[in-house]
Order: sequence, then structure tokens, then C-alpha cells
Amino acid sequence: MKVATTEKAFLLVGGIALVGCMLALTWGTLAMGIHLPGRVAEVDPQTVRATPPFDRPGVRQVGPNRYEAVVIGQAWAFIPSEIRVPVGAEVTFIGTTADVIHGFHIETTRVNMMLIPGQVSRTTYRFERPGEYALICHEYCGLGHHTMFGKVIAE
Ligand code: CUA
Repeated sequence: MKVATTEKAFLLVGGIALVGCMLALTWGTLAMGIHLPGRVAEVDPQTVRATPPFDRPGVRQVGPNRYEAVVIGQAWAFIPSEIRVPVGAEVTFIGTTADVIHGFHIETTRVNMMLIPGQVSRTTYRFERPGEYALICHEYCGLGHHTMFGKVIAE
């Protein structure tokens, strides 16, 4: 009799916790609008090098003090491997991969995204201090993963 009571109590606590978690999840999704990053755009990995803007990787000015840096990840390099941007400018990084999943992280900044086959990733950053920043692949992508890096030079 004692055991059954204890089991009932555990079931009740478990049930309340489960319902509470589901309510929190529903609230976060519907009321607060929290969700995973959506797809910016899609691109066919087979023809990525011929598809704009990836047919012209590199940095270009798109407005007053605004730049776009188009980057392709592939085993095991970034194209281009050296990105030069002006200090203080708003830089939008647009990336994808030509083969497997790669990471795209610029050290000491919050620029941190995944390059996923078929998808376009995008993030914006402003380099406030001049210098050389290491660009690294932080997702294991095969034998040469540790050799996959580049640099961003803010000048
Ligand atoms: Cu690319 Cu690890």
C-alpha cells in the first residue's frame, strides 16, 4: 500500500513536469517566437560555383560602408582563404559548401555558422578593431579538417 502511494506520487510529479515542459515549449514557440535559424536560401551543391553569388567568391561593396563577403567551403579550404574588409564597415558573410558540412568561425568574434550542403548561411558583423582574425572550420569534415582555415584582415 505504501509503495503504491509512492509510485502515484512519482507519477504525479512526472506528469506535472511533462505538462509544464510542453507548455513552456508551446509558449516559447508561439508567444515568444523562438525557433531554429530558418533557411536563408537554397543552392544546388553540384552547381554552386556557377550559381550567383557563389560564381564570384570574395568581398564586394554593396552600399555606403556595407560589404558582402561570399565564401565557399570545400574539403579542405575556404574560397577565398583571405578576406579583406574595412574596419568599422558592416560585413555580411554569405556562405555555403561545395561538398560536406563545414564550420565557419572567425576567432574572437561572434561570427559562427555552419556551411550546410544545399543551404546558404548568412550573418553580419562589424570589425571595430584592425587586425588579422583566424577563420577556422570548427566542424569535423574529414582527414584534412585541421588544415582548413583562412584569415580575415580588417584594415
Ligand atoms: Cu571543414 Cu572541418
